[in-house]
Amino acid sequence: RDLLQKNDINGNPEFVVFKKWSEESLKENFLHTVKNYLEQLNNAGGFVIKADGLTGGKGVKVTGDHLAGADDGLHYAKECLEKDGHVVIEEKLIGEEFSAMFLTDGKSLAALPVVQDHKRAFEDDKGPNTGGMGSYSDENNSLPFLKPEDLETAREITQQVLKAVNRETGEIFKGVLYGGFIATARGVRLIEYNVRFGDPEAMNIFPILKTDFVEVCRAIISGTLDKLPLEFEKKATVVKYAVPEGYPTNPKSNEEIKLFGVPEGCRVYYASVNLDDEGKLKTSTSRALAFVGVAESLQKAEQLAEVGAKSIEGPLFHRRDIGTEVLVDRRILHMKKLREETK
Ligand code: GLY
Repeated sequence: RDLLQKNDINGNPEFVVFKKWSEESLKENFLHTVKNYLEQLNNAGGFVIKADGLTGGKGVKVTGDHLAGADDGLHYAKECLEKDGHVVIEEKLIGEEFSAMFLTDGKSLAALPVVQDHKRAFEDDKGPNTGGMGSYSDENNSLPFLKPEDLETAREITQQVLKAVNRETGEIFKGVLYGGFIATARGVRLIEYNVRFGDPEAMNIFPILKTDFVEVCRAIISGTLDKLPLEFEKKATVVKYAVPEGYPTNPKSNEEIKLFGVPEGCRVYYASVNLDDEGKLKTSTSRALAFVGVAESLQKAEQLAEVGAKSIEGPLFHRRDIGTEVLVDRRILHMKKLREETK
């Protein structure tokens, strides 16, 4: 957030980074200021509190979801301040999230197909957050609720961030910049960057990459990425993760699983599973197997992934709704309504 603000880069929501009170006598006044800010954001639509540190994916709390209002928010903000010395508080963004990943040699960016992940454990986006239950990307290598200018904005923000990182640190960053963005009624906003591929998003991307990935890596190292046009098949992809029953809160581990009749055209990636001494495949405590459908249309890709995910015997579950017409249409309608409301 600070890097974008300092370098005048678009994409930040309204936010403040609060640094812990320096003396005990200032604490009460300080917390009063935090509460005022929380109330101001809440009146305007809600707030998000982000712990700044490693929290195993549990550091972000949102009003209407994890926090009821300013009192709850103040309690969590205080906890973060006492633990990390600072906390990020920002406006709650309403829209549709998307993952825009880029490869970079430090100068130019090569865009990868845009993907939408599903964080919630259960269908209809219910239940606790997970590492990601599955994802989809349309046959045009984008998402049906995005406009071309949304992709341009994500690229522009990333290009400017790359330059700013170089200016601030004197270092050249080479590798993957995985941007979590959200399309809102007021344009695209940046949620976060990771410097790795997204999981499950990587499984949407690599099956349709036509360019030799070793050549891509060589171009990143030698700084010639602009001379190697990255080509992807114009195909839709759907990923569905099969996870142990009870995941993510109380996963059933060490249970035997068997695969029967995975359909042709559906890829299977083994994630958190173990092979025991007798050669039996066993669950662990995290996402077990990913099924990836690749096809000419989203509908066909979804069917392939779904039949694949159903081909397991064992105490696992998956989200049947990922990539289905019903779910995707809901996303399109959501964005359409938001955009119309602000016209
Ligand atoms: N798709 C979520 C992640 O890779 O963090």
